[in-house]
Amino acid sequence: MSLVGALPFLKPRLSPSVSPGRQRRHTLPASEFRPLNTQDAISVFEIEKEAFISVSGDCPLHLDEVRHFLTLCPELSMGWFEEGRLVAFIIGSQWDQDRLTLDALTLHKPKGSTVHIHVLAVHRTFRQQGKGPILMWRYLQYLRCLPYVRRAVLMCEDFLVPFYQKSGFKVQGRCSITVASLTFTEMQYPVRGHALMRRNSEAIVGYIHTNLDEFVTETVCLFVSLWVICAEC
Ligand SMILES: CC(C)(COP(=O)(O)OP(=O)(O)OC[C@H]1O[C@@H](n2cnc3c(N)ncnc32)[C@H](O)[C@@H]1OP(=O)(O)O)[C@@H](O)C(=O)NCCC(=O)NCCS
Repeated sequence: MSLVGALPFLKPRLSPSVSPGRQRRHTLPASEFRPLNTQDAISVFEIEKEAFISVSGDCPLHLDEVRHFLTLCPELSMGWFEEGRLVAFIIGSQWDQDRLTLDALTLHKPKGSTVHIHVLAVHRTFRQQGKGPILMWRYLQYLRCLPYVRRAVLMCEDFLVPFYQKSGFKVQGRCSITVASLTFTEMQYPVRGHALMRRNSEAIVGYIHTNLDEFVTETVCLFVSLWVICAEC
């Protein structure tokens, strides 16, 4: 414990050249998304233990595997921290085949154009608040910035298929990997040339093109309304 902490009645001395308003703040950010590193491995594994081991006796990544992937490809992980505490995470690695095989569980293939999402988990006390889908959304947006990534894949138990479908994943079929008596569905998300996004942007451009007059009128009306509302305020 620091001397100041041990003697709470002693006020910390400020350097005379630093005004109080300019003191460096030591508070942790309320919410932060960042890639994980090996120092986060224990926090990751704590969440995994509660989420998986306490339920089924096993988990997607053991501690050494967490460290392995966070050493080889930390840029394919993402952690959500609140006031410095890990509340949710995703760990991925690269894969180079169309479908997942047993090797995908332990290997990182740096030449592959597929990101294999090994695990998404939310800390127990932060579940059912929409954090899982938000983190997945941010992760998928982030993957779009990596030019070598064409798609993301994952394997999940059947009851989680609707959950991942809501994030835009499509069912690819049964996964060849089984763990004890557990079977999985394989799902994929096209990171490059996302059909829905392309369709939507084409539809918007098409609408503007064919309804140019209406579009201009509607935009002008919108700005006039906003201006009136602002003026009234
Ligand atoms: C699965 C998990 C990531 C979801 O994250 P979350 O932040 O709790 O997600 P939300 O509560 O916002 O749920 C989003 C939707 O998914 C559904 N959902 C969440 N957990 C589910 C589960 N275990 N089974 C089925 N559906 C589930 C919710 O009902 C919700 O649907 P709605 O939008 O129609 O209401 C989280 O519960 C978790 O970490 N579970 C333990 C680890 C795990 O199973 N990870 C996935 C396999 S790798």
